[in-house]
Amino acid sequence: MTVSSAPGKVYLFGEHAVVYGEPAVPCAIERRATVSVEPREDDRIRVEARDLSLDGFTVEYSGATDGHPDVNVPTPLVEAAMGYIDAAVEQALDAADSREVGFDITVESDIPLGAGLGSSAAVVVAGIDAATRALGVDLDAEEIADRAYRAEYEVQDGQASRADTFCSAMGGAVRVEGDDCRTLDAPNLPFVVGFDGGAGDTGALVAGVRELKERYEFAADTVETIGDIVREGERLLADADPADAPDDELLAELGNLMDFNHGLLEALGVSSRSLDNMVWGARMAGADGAKLTGAGGGGCIVALDPTPETETGLRFTPGCEDVFRAELATEGVRVEAERAVDFRGEREDA
Ligand code: PMV
Repeated sequence: MTVSSAPGKVYLFGEHAVVYGEPAVPCAIERRATVSVEPREDDRIRVEARDLSLDGFTVEYSGATDGHPDVNVPTPLVEAAMGYIDAAVEQALDAADSREVGFDITVESDIPLGAGLGSSAAVVVAGIDAATRALGVDLDAEEIADRAYRAEYEVQDGQASRADTFCSAMGGAVRVEGDDCRTLDAPNLPFVVGFDGGAGDTGALVAGVRELKERYEFAADTVETIGDIVREGERLLADADPADAPDDELLAELGNLMDFNHGLLEALGVSSRSLDNMVWGARMAGADGAKLTGAGGGGCIVALDPTPETETGLRFTPGCEDVFRAELATEGVRVEAERAVDFRGEREDA
């Protein structure tokens, strides 16, 4: 069995605008998805998912995800999860130059699904790494990032940037602008995450921003202004010493930019009452800044606060279901266990 894990992420700045070629800075956080893969003798895929924010499910199928048996969780969520796993398997078979091989796959994740923390990217990145290693092939993190992007692109009908997948594969803070992806040397920022227990529909939210942007020049300007905020934020990070804890001035300036970024996302229609409540709950508790993270519509906010005040404030904020502190994950995709099986050799005999 091969086992790999990959981290989730928060967007310090730049979600949505990144879809239109502006830069974004996501940061990997120590909440991981772990995928275990065991090749099978037949070409069937059996997936067991545990600890997801849904109750967990097991499903076994062969070929496409449609027509899989009844499961005890809402079908769209299962279909979404299966779509990502399918696409990851397809990428792994392609990378290993292998034909149909079956797998028993177990997904364990402590990243809430669809909540702006990059759960699907983490599952796809860890899944591609575990499945390719199960086939005896080792990919470097950049190739895993690229293949994970292609998998997400396919599942999300072309509505995906490279931000989530690159960040999850590489770890740390990264900068993504179109196809240009780089890692950044950033200090460990004191992230606090608030979660409303819900999820947003990324496709619909991205489509909504696109519509506004096409309709109103000021909406297009808003998207460009988010790019300006990201460039300003990058300058602040580049001037900081990554080895030191960030000082008060840096946190205050980054916080201002996060507040500004949230205001513009709100204007673009991707916030929600519970996200706004949590953003204000964090600010009133003394956070340096707060914004929604990811597609929006529901899910998570991220705030900066080195003190415990924001966590306490969020616990008392209506609509906030969970609060946690999130360390920067310096490691991206990571091997958790090793045992390769040479299925390419076996296939030739078949
Ligand atoms: O909610 P998430 O973690 O899937 O992030 C979506 C971020 C967007 O910029 C809205 C879309 C993308 O692919 O970059």
